[in-house]
Amino acid sequence: MTQSIQAILFDLDGVITDTAEFHYQAWQTLADAEGLPFDRIANEKLRGVSRRESLGLILGGRTVPEPQIQEWLDRKNRHYQELLQTLSPADLLPGVAALLQEIREAGLGLAIVSASHNTPFVLARLGIAELFDAVIAGPEADAPAGKRRPKPAPDLFLLAAERLGCPPANCLVVEDAESGLIGARTAGMVTVGLGPEERVGIADLVLPNLHGVRLDELLYAGTWSVAEGQFAPARLHQWESALTIGGGASGTRGSFEERYPGDQPATLIHGLWDDVPVVYTELANAFDWTALDIWIDGQPFRMDRGRVTDYSRRLDLRTGELRRHLYWTPDSGATVELSFARIASLTDPHAFAQSVSVTPLVRPVDVRIRARIDGFAENESYLHWRELQPGRLGDVAYLTGLTRKTGKRLVEALQLVDSAPEPAGLAPVASSPLRYTDAPYNPGFEVEARLELNQTWALAKLVSIFTSRESEDPIAAALTHAAGLGREPYAALLAANKAAWAEFWATGDVVIEGDNLAQIATRHGLFQLRIAAPAHDERVSIAARSLSGFGYRGHAFWDTETFILPFFTYTQPNLARNLLMYRYHTLAGARRKAAGNHLEGAQYAWESAETGDEVTPRWVPGPQGEELVRIWCGDIELHITADVVYAIWQYWQITGDDEFMAGPGAQIVFETARYWESRVEPNRPKPGQYSISDVIGPDEYHDHVDNNAFTNGMVRWHLRMAIGLLSWLREQAAARAEELVGSLDLTPARLDHWDQIAANLVFNRDPQTGLIEQFDGFFARKEVDWPAYAVRTKSLQALLGIEGANEHQVLKQPDVLLLQVLFPDEYPLEELRVNWDYYAPRTDHTYGSSLGPAIHAWAACRLGDPAEAYTHFMRAALADIDDVRGNARDGIHAASSGGLWQALAFGFGGLRVTGDTYSVHPQLPKHWRRLAFRFTLRGQPHVVDLHQPTAQLEAANAT
Ligand code: G6P
Ligand code: MG
Repeated sequence: MTQSIQAILFDLDGVITDTAEFHYQAWQTLADAEGLPFDRIANEKLRGVSRRESLGLILGGRTVPEPQIQEWLDRKNRHYQELLQTLSPADLLPGVAALLQEIREAGLGLAIVSASHNTPFVLARLGIAELFDAVIAGPEADAPAGKRRPKPAPDLFLLAAERLGCPPANCLVVEDAESGLIGARTAGMVTVGLGPEERVGIADLVLPNLHGVRLDELLYAGTWSVAEGQFAPARLHQWESALTIGGGASGTRGSFEERYPGDQPATLIHGLWDDVPVVYTELANAFDWTALDIWIDGQPFRMDRGRVTDYSRRLDLRTGELRRHLYWTPDSGATVELSFARIASLTDPHAFAQSVSVTPLVRPVDVRIRARIDGFAENESYLHWRELQPGRLGDVAYLTGLTRKTGKRLVEALQLVDSAPEPAGLAPVASSPLRYTDAPYNPGFEVEARLELNQTWALAKLVSIFTSRESEDPIAAALTHAAGLGREPYAALLAANKAAWAEFWATGDVVIEGDNLAQIATRHGLFQLRIAAPAHDERVSIAARSLSGFGYRGHAFWDTETFILPFFTYTQPNLARNLLMYRYHTLAGARRKAAGNHLEGAQYAWESAETGDEVTPRWVPGPQGEELVRIWCGDIELHITADVVYAIWQYWQITGDDEFMAGPGAQIVFETARYWESRVEPNRPKPGQYSISDVIGPDEYHDHVDNNAFTNGMVRWHLRMAIGLLSWLREQAAARAEELVGSLDLTPARLDHWDQIAANLVFNRDPQTGLIEQFDGFFARKEVDWPAYAVRTKSLQALLGIEGANEHQVLKQPDVLLLQVLFPDEYPLEELRVNWDYYAPRTDHTYGSSLGPAIHAWAACRLGDPAEAYTHFMRAALADIDDVRGNARDGIHAASSGGLWQALAFGFGGLRVTGDTYSVHPQLPKHWRRLAFRFTLRGQPHVVDLHQPTAQLEAANAT
């Protein structure tokens, strides 16, 4: 379990016992005797700070001879030790004893990490010395490099982690001092701060003290981030996907700044399409804005050379910041500490920032840093760029180029600036002047410095990205923007991001108590959806793998409407509207597709890109890579046209956005209804009946089937909805109704025809049992010998072959069941049960479609089986952070993330909206203590807050 906390590291003074007060009194006594200015306020800065450094802070800039210093340090310590004599077990701070006990019982590692050399004595007086697996009592002179600097360095925490045998990312630290929290956070640990926000506000969780605090509460602090605990080259691509950052306009995979052999870095920008052979069009991989090289005494830093230790990466879901920390020892032996961080602004789609810092740990070193824009950015060996042109204007270096076929311009501009030295007050590093470098298609700046032992050099790289989609003159725009960015420190961008993310989480968060892994996965999924959702652009949509990988080439599928959109519709309606407007703006492509098939109206592309024209590749390499496989989805997977309409209708129901519905919404609903009217086949199988033959339903293991239940069920609903919509329009917006009737020829005869089709479209439902046949003849197909495939690591299609799967009753994902959960009023529970019993055991849950598990979770909840639902839910939840399907490398499973939200809200929460009101029917898994989320219904915010064991509901209007 990569995300679990395995050890808790406690600071001592001010956390376990109030010796912070004794330290203060001892300093005060010394200061009074020596006439040094000192008071409680000045003391706040000394928390967690070593004895010698504390004295330094008290003295301010004053220079005092070393023997005098030594005498004062000794005297302070004598005062302090006198005070300690009174210490007894009664001096454990409230809550500490119980908490330590609980941690022990839970079998977690337990350590003290204190700057105080008096720690062993204090622990003995408190009677708790035996409890800890490791005690770090101040810097140890003989500890290895990187394990002996005082806080705020991460050393003491890393030393404890090493002694506990626990990766830093799996440690949680409880501290009352900012210096300690900085160190722990740098080390990649989860942090809990005790005290006032001003002092400990950087912690993942802030508490006043440990009084009444349970272990659960501490561990919950780790649910706001995702960590890669140990570096494993085999998981390189999975983490590149899972650690993608972005701000709604672009996504940047979590590749290393300095690169790694075989890596797949990518920055994918909405709308930056280019034409390519075979797959028609794809998002061009933009120049790599993260590129950064570091040389230590002339040796280039690379994770696959030298030795890497104390590694961690953490993606902070509350700020959007990705951090990496490690120690690197080149062959020369001169170990350095390296810290990297990056953010994409959530408020300014053009702004990106990185920070890097280097600290020599064994001896002084020469460091050279080069920050670049890397123009050799390819899509799996295809370079989309021509006319690459590097340039420089003052402190700004930039690269511009055009996409090969579509001629879209991209500009990325960077500035490299010094960051404030950490901790504040240290002398800045004397570095060389910036040197512009123009390695081919890699403009940037280079700078060098000689670093003393333990001296930290921090730089920030600020990047502006513009394309010709947003600006007439993207070069000028990027240069101006970059100059402005250079005036803002990294910390300011980070703070702005934190505020913007707080706004998102205020409405978008789902709280799960009692299951931290489910909580982390859910937040990570929602984070990934948000960073892919355009806030100011209606001409793009969210792709199947969002902007986080090359899978499906940035194309939008029904994944957006059926799986992803409900989350936005219920919690971020403005973003939902943008995504639906994409379908409006691509209507022309949908009309062309219908016309190309000699049909009327508008037929949405199975895979859609810039124009809405069909871009599904007809042939793709097979699983073994050798033979080509014909992909029929673009030709005959039709249901997407109704899926888009369902999403529009749902958006309308939930938001009450009549203006959208009467305008773009109605346009889409009627044009697509006309498509179905022309597509159905009359008089089949009997006069008066209608069929839709030769299709693929959601279960893509079966192609060229007739009367797919999901497709026909959706079409039936679509046509009826369209009829109802026209009546509504006639009442609400007569002029608009007339306009549409005129332009789309919505005559009474035509509407009557729609009604006839809806009433007589083949739908294979057994009137006795309610069992629905997935398509004509499905029940006659062969049965799979399921026990023979119980243990496998491949899909049943891979094992049976494409034809083999086709011949069998094996589903890639729910088809009938999906239809039934989308229309709970049409399909009573008993019928859902009958169909579940038939189809769920015949579905490839583990290696079929990643879209399936969340839907099964939802359906199982409706059937009153949260335990069954939970198994499916976690399959969906772990698709990216645990790569349970083995294909996270291609990008985030965005539909699965959207499905998670539906499984939570509609499944476990049982949320059902009817008109202006809603109801909930909670079905929490046994170990979940609480499930809470918000949504907005017709402008009115609502909170759903569900608790175990009674799962009683506390639902109230949000304040
Ligand atoms: C802790 C306290 C500091 C103290 C330091 C060194 O971190 O918070 O106030 O200066 O330990 O303690 P020592 O007992 O070694 O002087
Ligand atoms: Mg402390």
